[in-house]
Amino acid sequence: MSLPVERPHVDPDNKTTMELQAVLPLTAKVEDGHLFIGGVDMVELAHQVGTAVYVMDEEHIRKQLRDYLEWTRFHWKNVDVAFAGKAFMSVAMCRIVEQEGCHLDVSSGGELFFAQKAGFPMERIICHGNNKTPQELQEALDARVGRIVVDSFEELRRINEYAIERDMKQPVLIRVTPGIIADTHVYIQTGAEDSKFGFGMRDGLAMEAVKRAIALPGIEFMGIHMHIGSQIFTLTSFAKAIEVIVHFMDEVYEETGVFVQELDTGGGLGIAYGAPDQPSSIKQYGKVVVDDIKEHCLAHRIPVPRILIEPGRSVVANAGVTLYTVGTVKSIPNVRTYVAVDGGMTDNIRTALYDAKYEAVVANKADQPRSTVVTIAGKHCESGDIVIHDAPLQPAEVGDIICVFTTGAYCHSMSSNYNTQVRPGVYMVKDGQARCVVRRETYDDLLMCEIFD
Ligand SMILES: Cc1ncc(COP(=O)(O)O)c(C=O)c1O
Repeated sequence: MSLPVERPHVDPDNKTTMELQAVLPLTAKVEDGHLFIGGVDMVELAHQVGTAVYVMDEEHIRKQLRDYLEWTRFHWKNVDVAFAGKAFMSVAMCRIVEQEGCHLDVSSGGELFFAQKAGFPMERIICHGNNKTPQELQEALDARVGRIVVDSFEELRRINEYAIERDMKQPVLIRVTPGIIADTHVYIQTGAEDSKFGFGMRDGLAMEAVKRAIALPGIEFMGIHMHIGSQIFTLTSFAKAIEVIVHFMDEVYEETGVFVQELDTGGGLGIAYGAPDQPSSIKQYGKVVVDDIKEHCLAHRIPVPRILIEPGRSVVANAGVTLYTVGTVKSIPNVRTYVAVDGGMTDNIRTALYDAKYEAVVANKADQPRSTVVTIAGKHCESGDIVIHDAPLQPAEVGDIICVFTTGAYCHSMSSNYNTQVRPGVYMVKDGQARCVVRRETYDDLLMCEIFD
């Protein structure tokens, strides 16, 4: 049994919506007491389409992708940006990524299928997963994906076999764990020695994987991949990992005579979930990652590779919000007030999973100060089904529309049908228009896989 988490006392912060700048979507503003995003009134939208509903600021998403391209290519022309589809996958998102000239990282057969259905160019796909099934690998080869990131010897053997069967050579990257413990939640650290991902360097496994990849006839060895974790605030974690990896690239050249042509540094840039959070900017990230790779390559006298990066969270998290309707307000004297909404852990598992923190406002009282502190609870049958513990909030009443910020990443993509709940739809907002890009599920959708004898 786990013990309840000790939480610090929280006072009302009396902030109004526009004072929460760090977590707001790019186009957020307040007019006549209502929150607007993309020129669309969030209160009206909630009333029109129902809640719970995810809303994404399209301009914000596009700006993040453009910033990544600009601030990496500013330092080195040969950089490509792959959006990590696991953060938010939909056909509309694939199209935005394609239109912005980016690549796409997929981590399952399902994500690849979405990309195919969206008409995404397959040569711009990077396939991930620590245990891709034989079927997923064959689907990737048949689709002629640009890169497969190899995570085990078994996988290397399988890709080689399937490629030979298809009379082709599959371009691959070898995923290496640099042995760096990133400064983030342990569940989203991935670059430590003890990791289910990739090949470790200390025991020679990474070098062995590279040598086998070079030797196998069905494999085209393109380079190295690393991903040290997610929601990383301190850029020094990236800098340390890059130093180790470029040293390894040099060793690869020394031992095999082959230059590593590509280095993919994964994703991981942290974002603000709370108003006081101060993550590094894309500009700072671009400088550290790209300049460090260049500098270390120069020092080792090896060519600067083509660089790939795979941001997910930092592209979409702050672009997205979730709108809920308040169903009940329950005050327990001298304990707390629960404001219960029509969603919860099925549309946002992150609070239960990582004790993630969020900011919220009452969208129809957006110009008022957050003069109360309440716990925003979900509607599901778990005490842990909390959206925000101890949230400063405008005084909330039944029927109010609650807007929770920073839910654009890893909320829709981690959503579930627990309690046989239908999952919310997704709307993209831009220039005063709301476009439904994923419709809300129906009860009939829930029955789709049921067999009636
Ligand atoms: C291989 C890989 N690349 C990219 C990402 C995206 O990371 P983030 O959303 O933190 O940018 C992840 C996330 O887990 C990942 O596993």
